[in-house]
Amino acid sequence: MTATYREQGDIAVITLNNPPVNGLGHATRTGIVEGIAKAAENTAIKAVVIIGEGRGFSGGADIREFNTPKAMQEPSLMTVISIVEASDKPVIAAIHGVAMGGGLELALGCHYRVAVAGAQIALPEVNIGILPGAGGTQRLPRILGLEPALNMIVSGKTVMSDKLASTKLFDQMITGDLLEGALAFAKKVSDARPLPKIRDIKINYPNADGYLQFARNTVRVVAGPFPAPLKCVDAVAASVKMKFDDGLNLERNLFLELVQTTESKALRHAFFGERTASKVPDVPSDTPLRTIKSAAVVGAGTMGGGIAMNFANAGIPVKLLEMKQEALDKGLATIRKNYENTMKKGRLTQEQFDKRVALITGTLVYEDLAQADIVVEAVFEDMGVKETVFKKLDEVMKQGAILASNTSTLDVDKIAAFTKRPQDVIGTHFFSPANVMKLLEIVRGAKTGKDVLATTLALSKTIKKTGVVSGVCDGFIGNRMVEQYIRQAGFLLEEGCLPEQVDKAVEKFGFAMGPFRMSDLAGNDIGWYIRKRRYVEKPEVTYSKVADLLCEKGRFGQKTSAGWYDYKAGDRKAYASTEVNTMIIDHSKAIGIERRKVSDKEIVERLVYALVNEGALILEEGIAMRASDIDMVYLTGYGFPLFRGGPMFYADTVGLSNVVMAIHSYAKGSHSEAWTPAPLLTKLAHEGKTFS
Ligand code: 3HC
Ligand code: NAI
Repeated sequence: MTATYREQGDIAVITLNNPPVNGLGHATRTGIVEGIAKAAENTAIKAVVIIGEGRGFSGGADIREFNTPKAMQEPSLMTVISIVEASDKPVIAAIHGVAMGGGLELALGCHYRVAVAGAQIALPEVNIGILPGAGGTQRLPRILGLEPALNMIVSGKTVMSDKLASTKLFDQMITGDLLEGALAFAKKVSDARPLPKIRDIKINYPNADGYLQFARNTVRVVAGPFPAPLKCVDAVAASVKMKFDDGLNLERNLFLELVQTTESKALRHAFFGERTASKVPDVPSDTPLRTIKSAAVVGAGTMGGGIAMNFANAGIPVKLLEMKQEALDKGLATIRKNYENTMKKGRLTQEQFDKRVALITGTLVYEDLAQADIVVEAVFEDMGVKETVFKKLDEVMKQGAILASNTSTLDVDKIAAFTKRPQDVIGTHFFSPANVMKLLEIVRGAKTGKDVLATTLALSKTIKKTGVVSGVCDGFIGNRMVEQYIRQAGFLLEEGCLPEQVDKAVEKFGFAMGPFRMSDLAGNDIGWYIRKRRYVEKPEVTYSKVADLLCEKGRFGQKTSAGWYDYKAGDRKAYASTEVNTMIIDHSKAIGIERRKVSDKEIVERLVYALVNEGALILEEGIAMRASDIDMVYLTGYGFPLFRGGPMFYADTVGLSNVVMAIHSYAKGSHSEAWTPAPLLTKLAHEGKTFS
């Protein structure tokens, strides 16, 4: 039973027991209704306490039931709450851990609420593209006041119960055992009549219209492509302007509308995608973890410094090794400057600054790293250099230490083979800037130990990253796919586009940055270096040579103040470059291509479907465990628009047969070799299936 009923003296106790977060799925809802009915039948019962088993009161409606018949199956959450509210006997919500979404709405439907300190209180529905659909938008403003309630609902932010202790939301804060306290409170109010109902409270807010208009204007700006935040304002407005039941109806209609939107489905996909990514089918959740109390990083360059900051931010002491004192000093100074900038922005206190800086110590001596529990190598992207480093690490590191490489393209199995302990070797591919970007691609080598993988996944949570597991291949999940995207961008330049048009089209689709602005930021020389290797290793793969011509001019991007665009000192804005545009047009002529007008639709389709097609190959080869992992890589590491849910989810929404049709039509163009549909994509399209 996911909601149990028992009697303790003259008080009935309904316990929500639906791990992990007491989601209010159909069985739990039924249990609550049955419990209230039993309490009503027994004349000896004077009051009812609803309490949660385990880690909290309730995390809300069971999101997995959304868009399935079970979500609406009676008793719906609305029905449950109206039955609770209509009970002749007082019902008391006893809150600990979390009371979120439908969980909080259930508590708001109770006559009284008691809570312990430290409980997370929220109506976070907006984060999954919906609004509170079981009375939250009508009851929270009535009990908390219009402004605080609107803020909570529109932001979805969590407020700790202690912060709300002095509000009317809680009738009593419990300091000792919650159940005992709730039972004592229930006895106290068991004879109180009439029973207080939040629905009866009238909101008194002079000039509500003015405030709501202000709220609408502000929310419109931050909501971007997401419809839910503005609908939240509409629903909350009803709590002031309409009768309670009419407001409830409006809220319900808006909820039903939002739950069907692609934006909401995309957000829910990302919510579960993030949590699923940490699960590896052949690595049980009880796999013993190695202890990570100290860390080391080799190489204090662009990536090494950022990686070291991640450890320090999590309170883990880290040793940073360089070859020369000068490089070490430079690396440490950059770290210090980064922290100083954060402090200047008010996001770090002096105390935190001192603590973090003190946790990072530099060294030139490998032996100083020996006792670290994990070492991350971030030296030049060159197999020879990696070999030297890993042989040395194998020599000095204590047994049981995890040896990780931040390589972005190299073969982790080869790197592991430089050591006598390949089971301890793993790829940890951070994204630049490593102290900011959420994504951590965790590269599982053929011999990587299961405990090493499980420990690295757990570590990704400790350092607040989204860890996604990838198998070994050139570029892993993210960069292997982006290569096809960049390749198409190059072909588009030859066929008739200029960088600005491509970037604008892709940014309009929702990407944070188009491919050319992104390349200018990352450094065009990186791609040049990789292509040179590929021209030798994979001569059959075609590329537009226009990016090489750019690099031959020394236009490496923002760092040289010239790339696909021109840059001015102290200004990150990209200005169209006549020199580059002429170079592109001349190049088309030189290779005999008659330039044509390319539509924005074609640009977006070619770039995004190139990602999808490669993603399908990656899935088929088992490099990614699931399509949602690929989506998480793109949402957290490549600025793919969240409201579209990631490339694979987006392809599902377009319809895989439409994607395949488009791929066939592009294969008729000048680069058919780049457009062989992945067998998995064709198969799923043929069967009318989706990736997710
Ligand atoms: N429905 C279904 N599953 C849920 C869930 C929910 N509402 N909330 C959490 N879960 C699942 C997670 O998927 C995860 O499952 P897994 O172990 O199989 O991966 C598990 O519960 C634990 O979740 P977390 O890893 O996130 O655990 P934390 O302790 O870090 O966080 C939490 C707990 C704060 C409750 C967090 O899970 C959370 O924010 N959940 C979402 C809360 C939410 O959005 N509630 C509103 C739901 S919509 C609603 O109520 C509609 C109503 O208005 C009609
Ligand atoms: P970088 O050139 O900025 O830094 C490399 C540092 O390693 C230099 O400071 C160098 O002095 C040091 N180094 C070289 N050989 C060494 C050795 N034998 N022992 C100790 N230190 C040594 O390079 P960057 O960009 O930080 O890249 C490092 C690694 O991270 C590479 O494998 C790269 O592919 C990968 N990477 C880079 C990303 C980026 O955007 N720059 C993104 C993700 C991964």
